[in-house]
Order: sequence, then structure tokens, then C-alpha cells
Amino acid sequence: MSVQATYLWFDGELRPWDDGRIHLLTHTLHYGLGVFEGTRAYVQDDGSTAVFRLDDHLARLRRSAKILQIDIPFTQQQLHDATVEVIAANELTSCYLRHIAFIGEGAMGLHPQNNPIRTAILAWPWGAYLGEDGLKKGIRCKISSFVRHFPNSSMSQAKATGNYINSIMAKREVVALGYDEAILLDTDGFVAEGSGENIFIVRDGVIKTPPLASILDGITRNTVLQIARRRGLTVEQTRITRDELYIADEAFFTGTAAEITPIREVDDRVIGEGRPGPVTQQIQSDYFDLVEGRQVYDPDWLATVDFTGATI
Ligand SMILES: Cc1ncc(COP(=O)(O)O)c(C=O)c1O
Repeated sequence: MSVQATYLWFDGELRPWDDGRIHLLTHTLHYGLGVFEGTRAYVQDDGSTAVFRLDDHLARLRRSAKILQIDIPFTQQQLHDATVEVIAANELTSCYLRHIAFIGEGAMGLHPQNNPIRTAILAWPWGAYLGEDGLKKGIRCKISSFVRHFPNSSMSQAKATGNYINSIMAKREVVALGYDEAILLDTDGFVAEGSGENIFIVRDGVIKTPPLASILDGITRNTVLQIARRRGLTVEQTRITRDELYIADEAFFTGTAAEITPIREVDDRVIGEGRPGPVTQQIQSDYFDLVEGRQVYDPDWLATVDFTGATI
């Protein structure tokens, strides 16, 4: 399904949606070196709208850019203000946001030096990434034959556009076989992450998630680690084997798009009771309380959108 809104922000200004066009010689289109973020804004309990952990997403965008030597020509504060402006201009009370910085047209070949760095922010309404039913009842997953990037080849800590070739191939492979989402193993054969999510398991009351090596340093993963600590749950960031995943009591994905999505089946093995377990349910409920402002761990996690002054 195609997505759409009325305005977008491109290279420093709000523009009509249809003006978000680029030249065919855009360098990133050919070679895949660009960085991006996926963020969400939620309607709060008091009726206002706030972007969840916007500054953390923008900080990760900057880290990704540093890794890939992309010099984004806007400050974090400028991107923060522009994000709020895009949401207000589109009058979106809740939405998904895409920040992207990429290498524009100019020189071709593998050593672009003076091509402009182009920066855009888009917002559009987007429901549950893995389906409302998936959020409630859990999803069916399969381990993909495509292995996660080796950290020293593709820079897993960078949310890089080109890294997603690997994710798309994994996702296509398992969806064609009738599953909802792919799980990728790392180059040593340990569980890494989903095509666009981090993964957690629960066994005998202990929560486990893979360490930061070949996986993205997910902001939702970090939120879940903080939820778990506040709930007094034991969390280990440790390698997880494929068979350990099969015999977990519970498993779930975390991600800005996927939020907290329970996993009810992996490779045709039912996980636990085949429905979201108590730890997953608690974490999911705390997560929605945080993004919708019913619980506040850190007021800086909620960037409020002011719709009153929105002018185009
Ligand atoms: C490969 C991958 N892993 C994990 C995540 C989850 O990250 P976050 O929670 O910051 O959205 C994402 C989504 O951005 C992703 O694409």
C-alpha cells in the first residue's frame, strides 16, 4: 500500500508532497550509502501528540552518518524542529516518520567527494507494522537462510540504506513460504534479529536478548531493557542459540515500527503456549503506556507537537 501525506521537509524547507523528487543520478540510489531513521508519534492520553524518543533517533542518525562519513548539513536541533513542523503541517495526530540523509547527484563512481548531502523528513499515518492481530496474538516466524551482516563488513551499528538488502531478501524468503517475519542468524550461527526488529526471549523468568554486535542498537530494545529493569526482571544481553529460541517460554520482537510484537511460532515450533506470555504482555503494556504518556520515565522522551502555530 502506498503511503502519502500533504507536505514533506526537504533540504531545509517544507514542500508539497509531490516535490519530494530526486535525479536518477542520485548517488545513493546506485550504491546504497545513505542513513535513515524510523520514528513514531503517538496521540497522548491527554489528547496532545508527541514523538517518542525523537532526540535519541536523531542522535542515532548522526552516529550512523559518522560511521559512513556522511556530513549532514543540519544540526540535531534543526532536524528536531523540522520534524515537529512536518507533523504539524500535515495535521497528523499520530504517524510514522522517516528521516533520511543521502548522497545526491554529481560525480558517479565509488569515491563521491563533492556531491551534495540531501536530507529529508517524511511523515504519514501507519498502523501496526506486523498487523493488529500480530500485536495481540503473536506472529509466525521462520529463520531465514540469509545470514545477518558480518559487523566488520556492513557496519551494523549504522542504520544504513544499503544494509536493508539483507533484510528484504530474508523477509521475502519467509513471506513466500507463508510466515509473517524472518529471524536472521549471525555469521557464527547465533540468533541476531528480525528483518527490521530486535528480538528477545524469556525462559524461566530470565529475559535474554543478543548483544550489540551484528545487530542494530534498537531504541525500542533500549526502552525494553529499561522497562525490564524497573520491573525488577533479570535481563541478559547474551548470545542465543537457535534451539534455545525453540524452547523459550516466550519470545517477542521490538522495533519502532513493530512496537512489541509477540512471536508465537518459530520454524513450525510453538513458542510456550502459542500466545503472548505474561512477561511479553507486561512489557507490551508498559511500552504503550510510555509512548502514549501514561507512564513517564524521562520527560525528554516525549517531544510534543504544537499544532497551533502550523503555517505553510
Ligand atoms: C534491522 C533492525 N533491527 C532493529 C530495529 C529496531 O530498532 P528501533 O527500535 O530503534 O526501531 C530496526 C528498526 O529500525 C531494524 O531495522
